[in-house]
Amino acid sequence: MARELPTPPEAGLVNALRFGTQTFRFLEGVQSRFEDAVSIPVAGGGSLVLVTNPSLVHDALSRPEDFPRVPAQGPSSMISEQGLVQSEGDLWRQQREVMGDAFAGPAVRSYGDTVGRRVEELTDEWRTALSGGDGPTTAADGGTAAAPTGGRRADPVSGELSLNLHREMTSMTFRVACEAILGETVGRGLADRFYEWMAVAGEEFEFDATTAAPEWLPTPVSAEFDDAANGVLTLAETMIERRRRQLADGTHDSMDMLTLLLLREDDPEVDYPPNQIRDEVATFLIAGHETTALSLSYTQSLLAWHPEIRARVREEVREVVGDETPAYEHYADLEYTGQVYAEALRLYPPAWAVFRRTTEPVELGDYRVPADAGVIMPQWSIHRDERYFDRPDEFDPSRWDDRRPEAVEAYFPFSVGPHACIGRQFALTGARMALAGIVREFDVDVPAHGLDDLRATPTLRPGDGVPSTVRFAE
Ligand code: HEM
Repeated sequence: MARELPTPPEAGLVNALRFGTQTFRFLEGVQSRFEDAVSIPVAGGGSLVLVTNPSLVHDALSRPEDFPRVPAQGPSSMISEQGLVQSEGDLWRQQREVMGDAFAGPAVRSYGDTVGRRVEELTDEWRTALSGGDGPTTAADGGTAAAPTGGRRADPVSGELSLNLHREMTSMTFRVACEAILGETVGRGLADRFYEWMAVAGEEFEFDATTAAPEWLPTPVSAEFDDAANGVLTLAETMIERRRRQLADGTHDSMDMLTLLLLREDDPEVDYPPNQIRDEVATFLIAGHETTALSLSYTQSLLAWHPEIRARVREEVREVVGDETPAYEHYADLEYTGQVYAEALRLYPPAWAVFRRTTEPVELGDYRVPADAGVIMPQWSIHRDERYFDRPDEFDPSRWDDRRPEAVEAYFPFSVGPHACIGRQFALTGARMALAGIVREFDVDVPAHGLDDLRATPTLRPGDGVPSTVRFAE
C-alpha cells in the first residue's frame, strides 16, 4: 500500500518562499534531510514534490505518461509552445523521428569539427588582442568586418585581456549551433545580440518568491523580454524562409535539422501542427547552445581554481592535438579532458533540475504522488550528496578514472529516460574540442568568487556573466 510523502515541518508558505528565493541552499537542505522525496505544500492548494533519491528519479523519468512535462506556459510559450524540449506523446515521437538523423554519428563528427574551427577563430582573436591588435571580428552576415568585441579590454602592461567568459562561450556555441544544426552561418554581431536576449530571458525566468504561486496568477512580461522573444521568433522565421528558397532553387545541400524538417512537410505520415517548424528552430536556437556555453564557462572557472588540473589538461592537449585545429579525430584521445568536463557537469550542472507535472495521482516507489504536483528532480543537490559521491564538494576529475559517468545512477546532467538530451554527444564532443583549443594556449583566470551569484532560471546561470582575464600560458 503506497504511503503519503513526508512533508517538512515548516509552514508551506515559508518553504515555497525559500524554494523561490534561496533555491540551491534550500535544495541542499532538503537533500540532506530526506532520503527519497518530500512534498511541499504551496499556496493555492498544489504541492511541489522534490525527489532526492536517484533510483526514484530514474523511475519517474522513464514514465513520461505518469510524469509528463510541464506544458509551455506564460513567457516560455511566447518563444516555443511545442518544440522538442516541450512536446510529449505522439507529436514528440514524430519529431524525434523526423530529426533523428541530424544528431546521429556523422553529425557528431561534423559538430566536433565545427567547434574546432570556431574555437580556433576565437583564440586567433584573443591572440591578436593580446599582441596589441584589434583582432579579426566577424559581421552579422558571416563576413569579416569590424564588429563589437563584447567588452574585451587588453592591458598591454599586464599582458592580460579582460573579458566576460560567458559572453565569449555563448557567442561561440551559438554560432556553432546555427551552423551545425540549422545549416546557417551567422556572425559575431548576431551572436552578441543573442547573448543579450538570453540574459533578458534569464531574468524573466528567474525563480523568485512567486515561483511556487498558483498558476492562475497572471505573469506580466517585461518589454525587454517581449523584444527578445520576438527577436528569436523573427530569426527562426527568416532562417526557415531562406532555406525554403534555397531548397527550391537547389542551392542548399546539407542534411541539417532544418532541412530534414522542411523535406518532410509533404510526407503524409508526418503531421505538423501550425508553427511547428518555427517552434523547433526557436527551441534549437536556444537549447542548441545555451547549456553548452554554460558548461564551458563553469569548466574553465573550475580549471582556473585548480591550476594543477589545468596543467594536466594542457599536457594532454599538447600531446594529442599539437598545433593542429582541434577536430573530432582527437576526441577519443582527449580522455582526461573528458573526465574534467564530466566532473564540471557534476558540480555545476547547467540543467540544475528536471521538471515534471502530474495530471493524475500516481505512485513513485512506495509513495503516492497527488495529481497536479510539480515534480522536481534536482541534479544540483543529488550530484552533491555524500551518499552518492565521496567528498562531493571537491572538484576531482580522477573520480572518473575507472567509472563511466553513464554507469553512475546519481549522475544525470543530461537527464535519463526517453526525453534524455538529444544533443548529449554533441555537447561531450564539442566540449573537448573547445577546451583543447583554449587550454593549450591560454590561462583563463576567474576570481575565486566568480560563480557566487548563480541564478535559478530553467538553467543554472551566472548572474552577471563570468568576468575573467586571459593570458598566454607558458
Ligand atoms: C552541456 C550541455 C547540455 C546539457 C547539460 C543538456 C541537458 C539536457 C537535459 C537535462 C535534458 C532533459 C530535459 C527534460 O527531460 O525535460 C535535455 C533535453 C534536450 N536537449 Fe540538452 N543539454 C545539453 C546540450 C544540448 C545540445 C547541444 C542540444 C542540441 C543540439 C540539446 C538539445 C536538447 C533537446 C532538443 C532536448 C529535448 C529532448 C527530448 O525531449 O526528446 N541539448 N538536455
